[in-house]
Amino acid sequence: MKRTAIKAAKEAGKIILHYYSKNVNAMSKGNTCDLVTEADIAAENKIISIIKNKFPHHSLLTEESGEEIHNSDYCWVIDPLDGTNNFYHKFPMFCVSIALYKKGKPLIGVVFDPLKNELFCAEKNEGAYLNNKKIKVSNTNRLNKSLLALGFYYERGLLMRKSLGQMKKFFYENVHGIRRTGSAALDLCYTACGRFDGYWELKLNPWDYAAGSLILTEAGGRITDAQGKRYNLKMGNVAASNGKIHKYMIRILSQ
Ligand code: IPD
Ligand code: CA
Ligand code: CA
Repeated sequence: MKRTAIKAAKEAGKIILHYYSKNVNAMSKGNTCDLVTEADIAAENKIISIIKNKFPHHSLLTEESGEEIHNSDYCWVIDPLDGTNNFYHKFPMFCVSIALYKKGKPLIGVVFDPLKNELFCAEKNEGAYLNNKKIKVSNTNRLNKSLLALGFYYERGLLMRKSLGQMKKFFYENVHGIRRTGSAALDLCYTACGRFDGYWELKLNPWDYAAGSLILTEAGGRITDAQGKRYNLKMGNVAASNGKIHKYMIRILSQ
């Protein structure tokens, strides 16, 4: 199953790179900033066909074509292109994210950045890897030594104001910096390998964090909702960290 996930992520990566060199059209989904391009669709179709070919009876939850439920313990959770806005604007930060859940629990997570050729991969209880090298979270244990990442959902009202307020509070704690990469899956993987010490975002879909969350926890990190409550695929908002600064993040995020 891990081999299939990796194969699908790499094949989707090839498709995305093919479109990256062209000028693609983008359509907005419900919200004008929430984009979808031909690359998203083509990559997703490829992933689905690879998975269905091997595991025709597994369920699927994908960003662009929705849910396909079968009577199976296994469910693949797929974001064919995480960072579509970046991709469309030719900002080089996006990836493919594929997770496999068994009875609602994460089993496999694969995140592939085709531009940097970085493959993040984890299997439950087997550790997390970046291009076959084991990764672990940073040792930073104070906010004033941390580099954080933040994501904004497409909504520009209350959630945006709340996120900006939280950002301000972290700056008052003297964090080294706060980055907005535009790819939730990469934010989680970058926290997993110590490039970030923590990351939060107030509204996400399951496919944004299904794979990255396992990669993070297998690298020794922690993920909860913004109130510090236990992880699940429906929580929608995330606080992720190296574990050591988690309680300080939650102190601010739960205010
Ligand atoms: C988005 C990215 C972004 C996050 C948004 C997501 P998409 O995914 O992960 O970083 O801030 O909330 O929707 O739309 O590019 O797949
Ligand atoms: Ca996404
Ligand atoms: Ca996407």
